[in-house]
Amino acid sequence: MNEQNDNAGLFGSGDEAPSNHSNNPHFNDLVAGITRRQILASSAALGSLAFLGATLPSLAEAGEQTVASQPLKRRNRLPFTAIPTSRADTISVPPGYKATPFIPWGTPITGRYPAFADDASNSAQDQAEQTGMHHDGMHFFPIDAQRGLGRQSDHGLLVLNHEYIDAPLLHPNGPTVVNGKRVNAEEVRKEINAHGVSVVEIRRNVRGEWDVVPSPRNRRITAATPMQIRGPARGHKLLQTRYSPDGKATRGTQNNCSNGYTPWGTYLTCEENWAGYFASADADMPRELSRYGLRSSSRFGWNTLPGDEFERFDATRKGASATADYRNEPNHFGWIVEIDPFNPESVPIKRTALGRFAHEGLIFAPAKAGRPLVCYSGDDSQNEYLYKYVSRDRYWPGFSHGRLLDEGTLYVARFNADGSGEWLALDITNPRFLKACLTARVTFADQGEVLINTRLAADVVGATKMDRPEWGAVHPDTGEVYFTLTNNTARTLADAANPRIANAYGHIIRWREQSRDHTGTRFNWDLFLLAGPQTDSRGPDGTALTADNTLASPDGLWFDPDGRLWIQTDMSGSQLSNGPFGNNHMLVADPRSGELKRFLVGPLGAEITGITATPDFRTLFVNIQHPGEGSTATNLLSSWPDGPGKRPRSSTVIITREDGRHIL
Ligand code: FEO
Ligand code: CA
Ligand code: CA
Repeated sequence: MNEQNDNAGLFGSGDEAPSNHSNNPHFNDLVAGITRRQILASSAALGSLAFLGATLPSLAEAGEQTVASQPLKRRNRLPFTAIPTSRADTISVPPGYKATPFIPWGTPITGRYPAFADDASNSAQDQAEQTGMHHDGMHFFPIDAQRGLGRQSDHGLLVLNHEYIDAPLLHPNGPTVVNGKRVNAEEVRKEINAHGVSVVEIRRNVRGEWDVVPSPRNRRITAATPMQIRGPARGHKLLQTRYSPDGKATRGTQNNCSNGYTPWGTYLTCEENWAGYFASADADMPRELSRYGLRSSSRFGWNTLPGDEFERFDATRKGASATADYRNEPNHFGWIVEIDPFNPESVPIKRTALGRFAHEGLIFAPAKAGRPLVCYSGDDSQNEYLYKYVSRDRYWPGFSHGRLLDEGTLYVARFNADGSGEWLALDITNPRFLKACLTARVTFADQGEVLINTRLAADVVGATKMDRPEWGAVHPDTGEVYFTLTNNTARTLADAANPRIANAYGHIIRWREQSRDHTGTRFNWDLFLLAGPQTDSRGPDGTALTADNTLASPDGLWFDPDGRLWIQTDMSGSQLSNGPFGNNHMLVADPRSGELKRFLVGPLGAEITGITATPDFRTLFVNIQHPGEGSTATNLLSSWPDGPGKRPRSSTVIITREDGRHIL
């Protein structure tokens, strides 16, 4: 979903207005008076210089050189014809490739395996046994991922998020609303069940095509599934609710955007724009609600129905204490949730040590035996931050598990104008953090309270406000970390890491840790590309983008096993309908050579998001979300993938080569 900030009423875009009103220093102060052109030029130069000057143990280890010092002279690593922009209502891929829709919204996967009804007349219970509505982050787990080598490429579990719903298409004639309130509990239950995660066992048949296996492992996790809360905030008084008086349990996950997966074979789903699902009528909302942009009305109005299953979305103080109402229910959201996809009885766990914000995804640095585990996550909202987590304990293959995500240090990033950067600890035992809190006159009772208020803690230490961090990816050889900054039309002052005011097109930043194992607090960064039209862009090779690779609003990001970077876009509004970019698309970059080519264009109104592959890299899975966005039952703006007259459906797409060889 592209979060534009038009805070419409019920069924609006879901978007959350900027809620970072902190005065934490950012580069505006450092670069005041410098023109935009100077910033761009100096940023590019500083980036390269910083990379050249950095100590590069991981690169040296991999026998590679920097992008700047070693541009070319390798085999063609992008051997396909770049495809042009398009506004066709279909999927386009280069000659020699196939794109096949797979498990669209409503595909039966468990229980009674209820068939999808074209008129959207499936019940709430049907929806709980079918894939959810809007496919997003996704991972393929080889069937032997938790035992053996995890290399099986013809059989596995495909696990995917369903970020949100388009209520006008989810119901036969749209949602029923009377005087601004929801009145049909069955409808709202269907909406709740269309959210969450699907676990789908899949296998290649004798013809080489992928099928859904009717397996006991198949599972739906929804916005109502019971879950546990772990980590430093477990049992915190700010997590006490009527359902969970001890603050250790909760129900559901929603607005699951990008994802992650652990070295021990579990799935991580990330709660992004969860705040809009709640409402509070309190004029004096506490900081743990106001800093996350809670409002007096919710996006889907679930809170307006009677009954505990719906009242939990109303965070208004109503009872004598927190255990009598749901004032703290929003504090159960904004976390990373770990799911064991191989055990359908497992209870998903919210890992609070990873912080509470609009988590886009979670990506890991290469896990090394005997070293702490390191992972990164972006807070996708205008002017929010980038984070890193370093586990307290060391990773041991075959022995480590989710507890590594419960004890560790959460850091937030500061990007300096000279191309250096620093990770600032959000740790109540850290003297520098305590001093910053004292200076800012902000108090936290304990680490649980720090984590529940992660955004405020990051404000206090002076993190750099970014242009909406979306997905990240770590280069498999060099260890460089790349993050998309999708756009930020609210930026009024440029800085080195976010060099364009009213940044409509977005960019991709990357950094290299100074420590070999990623655990240190210093890094060097540069800008990988500035997205935009040919007249306002800079590609990875330092020149303007061309017809083969213009893009805007980069969002999804993934490295293939050979170190090529796949970039997915999420343009919306006028950028999509009037811009020079056509429909949302997916490109591939070779960071070694600076090449960038468009590989796929999606159908009308859709964003491209979610990407994973089989270990043999012969099957690539990509998700197409919200084709025909804005459609109603009587006004279908796309008919992908089912054809004329059929409601558009979010869907996975299987990409293979016609000759059956590996994708690239
Ligand atoms: Fe759900 Fe930030 O995209
Ligand atoms: Ca987006
Ligand atoms: Ca996204």
